Amino acid sequence: MTSFDSLLTADRAHFMHPSTHAHDHARGALPGRIVTGAKGIRIEDHTGKSFIDGFAGLYCVNIGYGRTEVAEAIYEQAKKLAYYHTYVGHSTDTIIELSSRIIDWAPAGMKKVYYGMSGSDANETQIKIVWYYNNVKGRPQKKKIISRQRGYHGSGIVTGSLTGLPGFHQCFDLPVERVKHTVCPHWYRQAPAGMNEAQFVAYCVDELEKLIAREGADTIAAFIGEPVMGTGGILPPPKGYWAAIQQVLRKHDILLICDEVVCGFGRLGSKMGAQHYGIEPDLITVAKGLTSAYAPLSGVIVSERVWDVIDQASQEIGAMGHGWTYSGHPICAAAALANLDILERESITRHAAETGAYLQQQLHAAFDSHPLVGEVRGEGMLAALEFMADKDARIPFDAALKVGPRVSAAALQRGLIARAMPNGDILGFAPPLIASRADVDEIVQLAKAAVDDVAEQVLAQKAPTAA
Ligand SMILES: Cc1ncc(COP(=O)(O)O)c(C=O)c1O
Repeated sequence: MTSFDSLLTADRAHFMHPSTHAHDHARGALPGRIVTGAKGIRIEDHTGKSFIDGFAGLYCVNIGYGRTEVAEAIYEQAKKLAYYHTYVGHSTDTIIELSSRIIDWAPAGMKKVYYGMSGSDANETQIKIVWYYNNVKGRPQKKKIISRQRGYHGSGIVTGSLTGLPGFHQCFDLPVERVKHTVCPHWYRQAPAGMNEAQFVAYCVDELEKLIAREGADTIAAFIGEPVMGTGGILPPPKGYWAAIQQVLRKHDILLICDEVVCGFGRLGSKMGAQHYGIEPDLITVAKGLTSAYAPLSGVIVSERVWDVIDQASQEIGAMGHGWTYSGHPICAAAALANLDILERESITRHAAETGAYLQQQLHAAFDSHPLVGEVRGEGMLAALEFMADKDARIPFDAALKVGPRVSAAALQRGLIARAMPNGDILGFAPPLIASRADVDEIVQLAKAAVDDVAEQVLAQKAPTAA
């Protein structure tokens, strides 16, 4: 046995992987992959094969792999001070500097940053802050949270509930009672027949208003949403959606939590999704691109409006009883600072806007009239192809055909990682933001060959099935 074979055997024996079919993995039906190295936009595995990482890990390695500058910042910080806690006003120079830098990346009106290690724990903090906010304001009944079908906000107890994908609820007794889901704003698949995009925005607003009326506005604390929905299928909002939704939220005094875990730090070609769409959030969640995944770090950015309430409450009830051991970890903060230095110095957000526009254009050129593709969509360096049996009648393929996973597997064989998204036959792209136009050309060309392969098999073999 090679050392990699024995590693894979040990992996199957003792490592419980996230989001992985337990039986298939343990029996080897799911081939394991040991990633051994990475540089720029490419990763290498144990077979020595190199792949373009068209999904930047889990849309997080924004600056690309192998930036030694970040590794050195981590090393220097670990030598100087690997850890100290941040309870009761303790701080480190790195976390102080990082907090101001994050406020500079955020839209106007933001005041403070609370730190965690993942998008999930940051969103758990968000919900606790929102509940605390209403309790100290004397509105203990105003606690429900509205999320959206197909939204993704993590996989904890509350965050798994906010996530509007059935696979994350199954056998966990989720969603919890206080979480309510409203319409997913994806015109192509969710709009009732005959509705144009503007009518669909009005429909989303109307459905939200109906939900608020049913539950009672005085019971609803917050609305959470991703500027562009990610894991639910890479779904940019229809034009005018965010402005219309915000009007409803303001009218009913409902806080807006903007989940920027994917969109933040340049992914859409803007600093954050909030600036991209003119969103004025009360609270913002960041993670992933904050360190480009060189170290685990997340943040909850709190607006002045919410902060004022917390500040005042502390005079009556003392410190807020919420904290993690690793909140504001200095090594993660050092990684974030080095990452932000690179993003800013190399104007990566502007580069992502330009390369992202090119990516969208090339995907449209290659796939708009492809017989397997129902919709080409995206924004900046986030894009998706949705495969449909009948694109005009909006009839999906039979899920048993696994068209999305087959295209993803065909792409992998050709050396491209593009993610088969849950909830539909959807192939997602979110390359590192440093990808060049030539890289985009290669990604699109490999994707086209993979889609053609599967189209040939599927279209010959199957007639459309009703939705
Ligand atoms: C929008 C969004 N929010 C939250 C999360 C959860 O982040 P994590 O996996 O770091 O807990 C994710 C993860 O993909 C995400 O895409």
